[in-house]
Amino acid sequence: MAIVTFSSPMMHKDKAVYAIAGDTRTALLLAEENKIPIPFECRDGNCGSCLIEVTYANPTDKKAVMLTDKEKLTLKELGKLTAQEIEDAEVRDMPPRYRLACQFIARDEDVTITFTGDPGGA
Ligand code: FES
Repeated sequence: MAIVTFSSPMMHKDKAVYAIAGDTRTALLLAEENKIPIPFECRDGNCGSCLIEVTYANPTDKKAVMLTDKEKLTLKELGKLTAQEIEDAEVRDMPPRYRLACQFIARDEDVTITFTGDPGGA
């Protein structure tokens, strides 16, 4: 069970929700179910509106990082993902700072998801 905490200037206070182990709901779906206003448009990793910053409660607890080609491309276009971060994610299981909420799935790690409320801003 992962605790996903959402934080944004758009919200009165942080909100923590549970993601069940094996859950395949994206951060965007979790947010919607809990009335958390992450901006979005395409839901498909293309527009970048749902940009989020993800911090891990235990950053040394390494997990395989799932970055699709589409998410990599969109984050690179937004200037939010470097070649070094891609290599760190794929070779060293070091998660990048920025993700797309419509692609990111919290599995069994506790994370804090921050977003500004501006589409494509995090
Ligand atoms: S909603 Fe378009 S990239 Fe996530």
